[in-house]
Amino acid sequence: MALQWRDTSERYGIVSRGLHWGMAVLLALQFLGMGLKLAVGRTPLTSFFVSNHAPLGVLLLVLCVLRIGWGLANARRRPRQRRDLLGRLALAGHGALYLLMLLVPTLALLRLYGSGRGFRPYGIELIAPSERKLEWTELPAELLHGELAWVMLALIAGHVAMALLHRFWWRDGVLARMWGGRARARRPAASADEMPA
Ligand code: HEM
Ligand code: HEM
Repeated sequence: MALQWRDTSERYGIVSRGLHWGMAVLLALQFLGMGLKLAVGRTPLTSFFVSNHAPLGVLLLVLCVLRIGWGLANARRRPRQRRDLLGRLALAGHGALYLLMLLVPTLALLRLYGSGRGFRPYGIELIAPSERKLEWTELPAELLHGELAWVMLALIAGHVAMALLHRFWWRDGVLARMWGGRARARRPAASADEMPA
């Protein structure tokens, strides 16, 4: 079977899946590292996570921007949500996840920018060190970076719970659109063709 790069109304293609699952793994590492740091404090393992936290966060931000671009380019062809309340909630939930995936690292970068410390992730000088210090850039991240990140984790937990409900309770093909081959579902997930106009 030919590789399916782009999305179709039945399933997500390789690029969307790669971005979805790749970012899921990287986000899991971010939360694992910060969770461990809070639970056990400074150890060699948590120091490893802490020193990689900002570069990984920037990578996630870049991937998120690419993912939004790819999502927009595939907007008319990817699986549609149903038009009932649950479908609208799914849309709103995905939108909120995107908003948080953009906001959480951006606030932290803004804080770093204002600190004057400079930032060289992966050997690329993103922010040059400087003498000036911008106080106001700190406040939003101090107040919101960690808090919004935990809100994102709670939303992710809800998202995963819904995916499992689709798979094991409703037994439709929603999980198979993102994971696995063709849906072997008792009830196929609503596809664009079945949607009322
Ligand atoms: C999607 C990307 C990111 C996620 C999911 C994330 C998540 C988190 C979490 C869960 C915490 C722990 C909060 C707490 O102690 O309660 C944290 C702390 C922190 N993060 Fe991130 N982060 C991301 C990106 C970044 C980036 C890009 C930077 C730096 C530019 C950064 C810098 C920090 C710093 C300095 C802390 C400790 C101070 C604080 O809680 O604000 N993070 N992050
Ligand atoms: C075990 C973990 C996960 C499972 C089982 C899972 C499952 C799924 C499934 C089945 C879909 C397709 C839904 C549909 O077509 O209506 C989906 C889409 C989506 N998921 Fe996840 N997911 C997981 C983790 C994550 C994480 C960590 C995030 C990011 C915060 C995320 C964000 C999204 C978004 C934004 C969509 C909409 C499609 C897109 O724009 O890529 N998911 N997920």
